[in-house]
Amino acid sequence: SGLQEQAGTLIMSIFKSHIAQIGAYTPPLEGRDPHDHLLLDFNERTLPVCPSVKQALIDFIQDDRLQCYPSYGNIASKIARYCNVDAAQVMITNGSDQGIDLIIRSACSEGEEAIIPGPSFAMYQQVAKVENLKIIEPSYSVDQGFPKQAVLDAISDKTRLIVMANPNNPTGTGVAREDILEIAAAAPKAAILVDECYFEYTQETVADIVEQYPNLLITRTFSKTWGLPSVRLGYVISNSGNIRALLNVRGPYDVNQLAVVAIDAALSNPGYTELYVKEVMEVSKPMFEDFLNRKGIDYWPSVANFIWTFPNNPDEIEKHLRAHHILVRPKADESDRVGLRINLGNKAQTESLIQTLSQIV
Ligand SMILES: Cc1ncc(COP(=O)(O)O)c(C=O)c1O
Repeated sequence: SGLQEQAGTLIMSIFKSHIAQIGAYTPPLEGRDPHDHLLLDFNERTLPVCPSVKQALIDFIQDDRLQCYPSYGNIASKIARYCNVDAAQVMITNGSDQGIDLIIRSACSEGEEAIIPGPSFAMYQQVAKVENLKIIEPSYSVDQGFPKQAVLDAISDKTRLIVMANPNNPTGTGVAREDILEIAAAAPKAAILVDECYFEYTQETVADIVEQYPNLLITRTFSKTWGLPSVRLGYVISNSGNIRALLNVRGPYDVNQLAVVAIDAALSNPGYTELYVKEVMEVSKPMFEDFLNRKGIDYWPSVANFIWTFPNNPDEIEKHLRAHHILVRPKADESDRVGLRINLGNKAQTESLIQTLSQIV
């Protein structure tokens, strides 16, 4: 055991000293079975993908192509067309997580400052900590939403990154376009990372002005609305110079071929996704908000497909839902009050959620 201890010390010393202080990002993924559960805990699409997407994957495998390295063809152009931008303004990534990682790694050096309003999606802080950045975390609030003034006040000579998740997770808060632009103009030396992971639900974007604002970098994904988090495909939209630079950092095969095959098929039938979005946002979400209002349950106003709710007995409710095969995500706020982040599915799924909740609320 002495030897093991020695070996342990040796292994630790190989890495930069601050790495050992960072906790791993370990979301509670185990035991989630879509055949046995209604999954409302990861903001995923709650219905299977389009049959043509499944068929495209089957065909690809049957065609004996798995032994070849990926080649991406014109997928960036197809995504660009979907986004109304130029192909040169798009780079595909292994999920938007990789986009976030590449942007932060490429823009920031140790000791520089990152403004990451919180609470928010864990990856930003994760990567910022790996790069040993100084993190400044202005707070979102139920009443004021995005902390624009606190972000502006925090900008200094050392600011190299400002994150704006639009909408933010877990709060569901949107960021006004004017606020993004004001902040981008106030911090010209900083990478302005606008995470539009849930774009399809809000249709709010700054993709149309990436040439005018050279520090704007947008991350997006096929993981949420499109229902393909398993294959990992995200993309970055920015001005073509930034995209060229980021392509110097991304590996040539970081995105797997199955992802490209699936997304190519999905993009041929955007209506399938649009119908789901419409049902979630126009039927399920108002129905659930109405339920929360009637029951007097606090929640953060959300522009997204999920709502951070604060019932009086969150643990009990989470267990009750779990016992009825519905999973939701407990998330504590800054004052350690536990809330349940719940994403919406289709109408029938939302009715089932409400019915199950009604038994205990
Ligand atoms: C705000 C936000 N950004 C990015 C992601 C990661 O998405 P991807 O699967 O594309 O890496 C998530 C996933 O939960 C998210 O909530």
